[in-house]
Amino acid sequence: MSDKSARLIIGNKEIELPIHTPTAGPDVIDITKLYAQGDVFTYDPGFTSTAACDSTITFIDGIKGELLHRGYPIDQLAEKSHFLEVCYLLLYGELPSATELEDFEARVTNHTMVHEQMHNFFRGFRRDAHPMATLVGVVGAMSAFYHDSTDINDDWQREVAAIRLIAKLPTIAAMAYKYSVGQPFVYPRNDLDYAANFLHMCFSVPAEKYEVDPILARAMDRIFTLHADHEQNASTSTVRLASSSGANPFACIAAGIACLWGPAHGGANQACLEMLKEIGTVDRIPEFIARAKDKNDSYRLMGFGHRVYKNFDPRATVLKQSADEVLELLGVENNPLLQVAKELEKQALNDPYFAEKKLFPNVDFYSGIILEAMGFPTSMFTPIFALARTVGWISQWKEQISDPNLKIGRPRQLYTGATKRDYTDIENR
Ligand code: CMC
Repeated sequence: MSDKSARLIIGNKEIELPIHTPTAGPDVIDITKLYAQGDVFTYDPGFTSTAACDSTITFIDGIKGELLHRGYPIDQLAEKSHFLEVCYLLLYGELPSATELEDFEARVTNHTMVHEQMHNFFRGFRRDAHPMATLVGVVGAMSAFYHDSTDINDDWQREVAAIRLIAKLPTIAAMAYKYSVGQPFVYPRNDLDYAANFLHMCFSVPAEKYEVDPILARAMDRIFTLHADHEQNASTSTVRLASSSGANPFACIAAGIACLWGPAHGGANQACLEMLKEIGTVDRIPEFIARAKDKNDSYRLMGFGHRVYKNFDPRATVLKQSADEVLELLGVENNPLLQVAKELEKQALNDPYFAEKKLFPNVDFYSGIILEAMGFPTSMFTPIFALARTVGWISQWKEQISDPNLKIGRPRQLYTGATKRDYTDIENR
């Protein structure tokens, strides 16, 4: 608590509000006592100026284009670390020693299989279900299968739930994919690393030998690493709000997955690729850019812009490089869709509208291109985001429920509806 304060004058009343100084980022005015002292609420739909919690996990400086996990810059983590090590860092706060990492990887690997009865659960979905719909359902259903890790007041159960979620999400996402294309489920292989195992579960079939390409596994791991956490975004805030009621971890993560699905959030990677397909050829790009700039048209370029980054998204910088490597490896640089992507990026970056509004390609722009080149259908893009973000959600969930001062989240409102009136009998309406 700092000794700084802000003074708010409402009519003839003056209210003193404490100001907290974070370790990084702008000061925060504490309004928790405002209603009690001033009989007013604050109004901030979309949380554009509101900190909903305190956290030690991730920090973003949107102006500088900086993203830190527990203080470590994302570009260093993407280059020098790997996804499971970043999971450890997010969950426990420090980089692991070699023994700690080995132990953690063994614990995660030990939980990669799902309960065999869950296979039947998948088969209840329509074959053409979107894999995100399947993911929301199956992750929510984990609380029906893993009763021994749903007691949020038990440290050990919280830990097992976290490990289970990180370990099983790739298996569940791959199963959702296999089911949607009518292929048999592929069991995890614990001799492979996390990313390589996911590729194996998605792309191998019993009839053929499948070798995971290490460059593709590295690119997959990078996508996971870059999506691992992102501070208090919509889905993370959804997880925190759900968890504030004491809901079990699987229910909370299912809520996060449901929120992530939206095209303004994790669904943007799918929407971006669909947009590129709709544009179709390079010569049509100016028409779509004109639509995105037209005030009377709600059309937006998907994969551009960000609420927090008003400079290049640091994750996009890393993925842009990864995209070039993957496209070269797969020999698909001349794919028409990818050519549209490259040209769109160039034209938008040189357009004054995008420059003035600080709209840069975001992480979803490049991840979509890489995943398309790897052979994933667009419907799998958001499930891949979800499986990577699970560690961020569960870390934020653990942080929140460990707080002894946790209160149920209960926003207030600016009511603009009818005032009190008497019920009118139907014959008099
Ligand atoms: N194309 C064209 N114009 C845009 C775009 C875009 N993609 N994004 C924002 N703008 C304009 C917007 O019309 C507004 O103009 P004006 O000031 O004239 O009204 C201005 O830029 C500010 O936009 P905003 O909607 O107030 O900004 P926001 O912070 O509420 O929205 C956003 C952020 C990410 C939802 C938005 O940029 C967007 O819809 N982008 C496309 C979807 C997308 O790529 N989402 C992925 C985000 S990154 C990954 C994730 O978080 O999941």
